[in-house]
Amino acid sequence: MPTGIPPIRIAPSLLACDFSRLGEEVKRAEAGGADWLHLDVMDGHFVPNLTIGPPVVKAIRRVAKVPLDVHLMIEDPGRWAQAYVDAGAGSCTFHVEAAADPGEVIGVFRRLGTRVGLSLNPDTPVESIRPHLPALDLVLVMSVMPGFGGQSFREEVLGKVRTLREEYGWKGDLSIDGGIGLETATRAAAAGANVLVAGTALFGEKDLGAAIAALRASARASRS
Ligand code: DX5
Ligand code: ZN
Repeated sequence: MPTGIPPIRIAPSLLACDFSRLGEEVKRAEAGGADWLHLDVMDGHFVPNLTIGPPVVKAIRRVAKVPLDVHLMIEDPGRWAQAYVDAGAGSCTFHVEAAADPGEVIGVFRRLGTRVGLSLNPDTPVESIRPHLPALDLVLVMSVMPGFGGQSFREEVLGKVRTLREEYGWKGDLSIDGGIGLETATRAAAAGANVLVAGTALFGEKDLGAAIAALRASARASRS
């Protein structure tokens, strides 16, 4: 059981919500107990899909109360840092694969005064982020290839979660993103993840509050 790590947080991914009722979906997630709202930004280059940009993040910020956990699946993230911080991101997480010099990009976000995270794809070795850990607030381990919701959880990434906690001694927030539901949340939390990002498994449910509570209970169960 992992100890000395931050509390379990549930971060519903708005990618799976009804975009025609975005403001209501934000309120539904918050009323249901969301700790953070996870916003998936895709640029059609780093990933094949295209989603939202700064104006939509800004609009969500106007209606949301909880922190916005912005997941940047974009090329050249440093170039867009100011725009996402100005839009109201609570944290900005970019991909180690997307930056020629990740340390420099971390510095850009730091100087803008936001929490910063680094993410890695399922096939990217965890060693690639190790040198950057002291400068980070958050690490996001992708458990599917980024780009689309509704994919199956890739169990093999849990080895990276354990390495981060047990070998590298990472004590900060550790998110897991992709294919998270009741059973995968239990295994991810047992490995050491504390932020559970979930889209399909939450927004697909009529009673979002009950779904969030069940996910939280599954994750917590692995810690007791
Ligand atoms: C995928 C995104 C995820 C996505 C997860 O690229 O980063 O946040 O919304 O969706 P589910 O929970 O449906 O796998
Ligand atoms: Zn995401």
